[in-house]
Amino acid sequence: MSGKPVLWLPRRVSDSTIARAHRNYDVIVTETDMPGTADEIVAMSAKADAMMPCHSEHFSADVVARLDPRLKIIANHSVGMDHCDIPALKARNIVVTNTPDVLSDATAELAMLLMLGAARRVVDGERLVRTGSWDSWSPAFMVGKQVSGSRLGIVGMGRVGRAFAAKARGFDMEIHYYNRSRLPEGLEKGAVFHETIESLLPVSDFLSLHCPATPDTVDLMNSRRFGLLPDGAVFVNSARGALVDETALLEAIGSGKLAGAGLDCFKTEPGGNPAFAEFNNIFMLPHIGSATAKTRDAMGFRALDNLDAFFAGETPRDAF
Ligand code: DGY
Repeated sequence: MSGKPVLWLPRRVSDSTIARAHRNYDVIVTETDMPGTADEIVAMSAKADAMMPCHSEHFSADVVARLDPRLKIIANHSVGMDHCDIPALKARNIVVTNTPDVLSDATAELAMLLMLGAARRVVDGERLVRTGSWDSWSPAFMVGKQVSGSRLGIVGMGRVGRAFAAKARGFDMEIHYYNRSRLPEGLEKGAVFHETIESLLPVSDFLSLHCPATPDTVDLMNSRRFGLLPDGAVFVNSARGALVDETALLEAIGSGKLAGAGLDCFKTEPGGNPAFAEFNNIFMLPHIGSATAKTRDAMGFRALDNLDAFFAGETPRDAF
């Protein structure tokens, strides 16, 4: 390859990421900052040696089949990989990387916010004050569910799950978890391992999802599983919308089985599920788990580290 490799940035990543990218690459930035469509991705694959997409750009088998052979690496600016058909990309010899570790704290922070917000009725309370309709107070007013000392169930004890557990320990929570395999003691840090989700749910006064979306985890939380939670449990999802049967969640909220839910992820994104808006005990945010300035830089730099390694002839640290 003569000259710098060409790198396409479909989304508006951080200024520091763009500045660093210019050092080693001829950078094409899509200034509109809209999700890259299938046709755009295919067209750009003929102009770029590398891409740094986000979870908003979908590399389905159909798209991958149409990619130009010029494209050699997709260095994702995300930890989640459910937007990429990895086997199809591997079959085309396209290297794929992600950005683990660097967003764990920001995402765990947001999960904590969702858990606290849902438990302490933040939607109701914030609206009352904001709209000027807060006109009384009593000991019976806006009573929520106490997080401190409660039992927390975590599904998926990877990096984000463990970062969340670390923060929850600060609230003296009793931590239980389900994971495909049990963690070594040093990582478990006293959390109680459950071999099945079914065994975890009945002890989860609060339940938080931290596992990836794969064909095996679609609708992992369905009506039967919501039914296994203690009455008045609070459900948190900062992982992926695909993990939840949203009709079942609405039923669990509507019936009073759940005291509340905190959601940062939805089946349909952007947009979410308008039916959730009927319920003030569902506290919702627009998929912003990793959206802090520090983490956005770290994600961009990690993606660039992967690209730099690849173009130096090495195997990138986060290659699949
Ligand atoms: C991730 O990195 O997977 C986050 O959901 C943001 O894309």
